[in-house]
Amino acid sequence: MRRRVVAGNWKMNMIPAEAAAFAASLCDGLKETDAEVHVIPPFTDIAVVADALKGTDVFIGSQNMYHEDKGAFTGEISADMLNGLGVHSVIIGHSERRTIFSEDDTMINRKVVKALEKGLVPILCCGESLETREAGNVSEWISGQIESAFAGVGENDASKVIIAYEPIWAIGTGKVATTGQAQEVCHLIREKIKELYGEKVSEDIRILYGGSVKAENSSELFDCPDIDGGLIGGASLKPEFLDIVNA
Ligand code: PGA
Repeated sequence: MRRRVVAGNWKMNMIPAEAAAFAASLCDGLKETDAEVHVIPPFTDIAVVADALKGTDVFIGSQNMYHEDKGAFTGEISADMLNGLGVHSVIIGHSERRTIFSEDDTMINRKVVKALEKGLVPILCCGESLETREAGNVSEWISGQIESAFAGVGENDASKVIIAYEPIWAIGTGKVATTGQAQEVCHLIREKIKELYGEKVSEDIRILYGGSVKAENSSELFDCPDIDGGLIGGASLKPEFLDIVNA
């Protein structure tokens, strides 16, 4: 049985005082869940959020990291720095990083490999644009993203990765994929993992859906056989996050 995951990606929101207060308000609700919850604030809020969530089993995540160990990389944050703050997981290859910050498949693969080497859990994002969907190329696109992100990742490490399928057209737009669309692509991802690593890894790996997940659509999405939880953006900044965790 795969343990369910709900991860809240706060994106570039909240100063430390706001983050601490909001995390504290979630604390009691998060103590009661069986799900694996990741709270993923901006770098500058990680320390205060970790402190506010002490006493819960919640994991703290980071929204990004750089693939080099140290050195002249102004503005970047290394895996060791995240480990030093007690961070557990790191989002890699979010579509906002790919499009706004021009991260390509090679860089994303390097980050996945480095995160695993340093004991961090990559939450690897993949997803297609509306254009790709309308051209009928979803399967090819997603397979390509998965294959390149996992290059050089061994069988022992592969199932540690959490994959998030996030159709770009559904992120922050209020346009959620239908359960049929979400399940179809999550299944395809599992099949791709099977092709790369075999049955056992494909059955163990967790695959999340992300893109306009809300309290009201979460149970239906999480009931799909290949969807093991969600990566939540906008709704993770509201008390509603607890309803999604409970779903
Ligand atoms: P959203 O974002 O829930 O606001 O659509 C999801 C994400 O970008 O991870």
